Amino acid sequence: MSAPMLELRGVGKSYGSRAVLRDVNLHIFEGEFVCAVGYSGSGKTTLMNMIAGLLAPDKGELLFDGTPIQGPSLNRALIFQNYSLLPWLSAQRNVELAVRERFPELSSAEVREHARRYLQKVKLGHALDRRPTELSGGMRQRVSLARGLAMEPQILLLDEPLGALDALTRAELQDEFVRLQEQEHRTILMITNDVDEAVLLADRIVPLSAGPGATFGASIPITTSRPRDRRKLNDDPCYHHDRKAVLRYLLAHGPQDTARAASRRQQRSAVMSSALEVTPV
Ligand SMILES: Nc1ncnc2c1ncn2[C@@H]1O[C@H](COP(=O)(O)OP(=O)(O)OP(=O)(O)O)[C@@H](O)[C@H]1O
Ligand SMILES: [Mg+2]
Repeated sequence: MSAPMLELRGVGKSYGSRAVLRDVNLHIFEGEFVCAVGYSGSGKTTLMNMIAGLLAPDKGELLFDGTPIQGPSLNRALIFQNYSLLPWLSAQRNVELAVRERFPELSSAEVREHARRYLQKVKLGHALDRRPTELSGGMRQRVSLARGLAMEPQILLLDEPLGALDALTRAELQDEFVRLQEQEHRTILMITNDVDEAVLLADRIVPLSAGPGATFGASIPITTSRPRDRRKLNDDPCYHHDRKAVLRYLLAHGPQDTARAASRRQQRSAVMSSALEVTPV
């Protein structure tokens, strides 16, 4: 088997005394679409920022193509939870800016054409000249996606790219992702808190336990066959099997651990306060 494109070994990260991630291990191979699914606040963005090279781990190693990740690279494009477009530039110019940085050898006309091609892929050919404020949330996220794809990175990192959208727009963009991935076969790591979304899109799901000290469970291969059509999934026993496997992990490693920890903390603080009450003033 070939070497993984991305490899995380025993990665840990704390903010001050708060351990957010512990012993995170992950392998991603070229051409895979992997979804990491986890609870809100468990450390998903922290993990993505480390893979993007924006944040250093406290423990462990992150390797890309066998080399330690030491900073950002155009080979690892990150699409954020919120669209992060430059508000004073049109959709076309937002994409062009990234294309120019990634492919400095292209002429202005080639950059324009390259950017336009990707905006057309995400069905925004009619809105090239509009600024972000003139676009709906779904359209803005399409621009972000076009920008990420147009950079043609070795791996596309998507941090809850559909999280800020209403349910209908979200479903529409999920279908768009399915279609694009069938055409493009990119290597993608996507983070989401939506199990159905993950099963619809991924080749493999890595479930993240709830923090503090969140970590990945064993990876769950998605057996639901492709091409996937959301309207038919409900009748597909593989889909239900995959969905259940992910939910089972998440429910077993969910915030009840935190609740237990909170209840232990409460008990400890009750003991502390009664100790304080008997302390002579
Ligand atoms: N710079 C920071 N300093 C201190 N604490 C932080 C910092 N960034 C994140 N945290 C804390 O670390 C934990 C994980 O944050 P993170 O943003 O990685 O979670 P997440 O899984 O992406 O959450 P969400 O699903 O809401 O996006 C949270 O408790 C958060 O408050
Ligand atoms: Mg996040």
